[in-house]
Amino acid sequence: MTDTARTWAEDTLRKIETKADLMQDRARELDFIPYTASHGQWVPGPFDGLAWWTNGFYPAFFWQLFAATGSSAWSKEALRAQALLDQAFQDFPHLHHDVGFMWRISTGFQYDLTGAKEARETTLYAAHLLLGRYNPNGFFRAWNEDKAGWAIIDCMMNLSILYWASRETGDPRFQLAAARHAETARQYFIRENGSSEHIVIFDPLTGAVMDKPGGQGYAPGSEWTRGQGWATYGFSLAARHLGRADFLETAKRVADHAISRLGEKRLCEVDFLAPASPVIYDDCATAILACGMLDIAEQLHGGEEAARYEDFASQMLMALDAHADWSGNTPNILTRCTGSYHTKDHEIPMIYGDYFFLEGVLRLSGKERCRW
Ligand code: GLY
Repeated sequence: MTDTARTWAEDTLRKIETKADLMQDRARELDFIPYTASHGQWVPGPFDGLAWWTNGFYPAFFWQLFAATGSSAWSKEALRAQALLDQAFQDFPHLHHDVGFMWRISTGFQYDLTGAKEARETTLYAAHLLLGRYNPNGFFRAWNEDKAGWAIIDCMMNLSILYWASRETGDPRFQLAAARHAETARQYFIRENGSSEHIVIFDPLTGAVMDKPGGQGYAPGSEWTRGQGWATYGFSLAARHLGRADFLETAKRVADHAISRLGEKRLCEVDFLAPASPVIYDDCATAILACGMLDIAEQLHGGEEAARYEDFASQMLMALDAHADWSGNTPNILTRCTGSYHTKDHEIPMIYGDYFFLEGVLRLSGKERCRW
C-alpha cells in the first residue's frame, strides 16, 4: 500500500464520520431505510417496502463505523435501522435471494461484533430462507414469481451468509449448497475472456442452460460492470470461506479482465461494452470491484501480484473521491451510481455505493473489522 493511499484513506475516514452524523440525523424520524437521496433528503427503495434488497447496507455502514471507531452512536443507529429491517420478515412475498445481503451484514455483523444471541438467531433465520431457494441442479434461484430457473451473478455475494451459517451451526448443508452454486456460476457465467454474464436461465427441472439474456447491462453478451464486481468479490469470498484456490483463480480472472477494460480510467461506467455516448457512471461498481480486488490481494499474502491488485483498487477508490459530495447539503457520499443501463435511475446516490466506499476506505486504513 502506498503512503499516498493510506493518508488519503485516513483523511477520507474522517470526512465519512462527519457525513455519518448527517446521514443518521436525516434518517432519525423515518419509517423506511435510506436507499437514495434527493434534494438533501433520504428516499426509500422503489419496490418491496422494507424488503427492498439494499436495506442491509445502511445498518452495515454503521456497524463498520462502530467497529472501526468504538463509538456507540454508530451501533445505536445500526440497531434503530435493524428494527425496521426485521419487519421485512413479515412480508414473505417480497423476500428474495437478497436476504443474504440484507442480514449477513446487518444482524450478522452485529453478532460477529457483540455476540448478541437474538442477532445470531435472526441471521440464521435469513440463512434458512436463502437455503430454501436452492435448486438441487446446483444454483440459487433469483427473484420470484415465474423465474424458477433464473440465476444471477449478484448471488455470489449472498452466499456469504451461508458460509457463516455453516460455521455457526456446524451443519455443512449451507456451505455445500453455496459451493455448488459457485461451481455452477464459474461454469456457466464466467466467459472465456474473464467477463461475467449477469443472468443465466436454467431449466429448473433438468438444470440445462436455456438462455443468457441481457440484464442490467447494455445488451446480451455485454459486460455489466456491477456484475463484474459481484463476481470478483463473490469468488474471492468463496475462495476465502471454502479454502478453494480454484475460486481465487476465477476471482483473479474476472478482476484482471476488469483491469484491462478500465485501463487508465479507474472509474466504471455501467457497462464495459456500452456505446461511447452517453457516458453513464456506476460508482457502486467501482467501489465493489475495488473491495473485491482488496480481498483478493489479502489472500495473496504480499508480493508483486498482491501489490498490483492493492494499488489498482486504491486508485479506483481515490478516483471515486471526484464523485463524492462532502458538503452538508445531502446525507449521501457518492453521487453517480446507476441501477441499470436501460432504466432511468442513472447517476444518483445509492446507499450500497457508500457502504462499499466506506469498506474500501477502512480496508486501506487497516481498520476494517466486519467481514462478509
Ligand atoms: N443485486 C442487484 C444489483 O446489483 O442491482
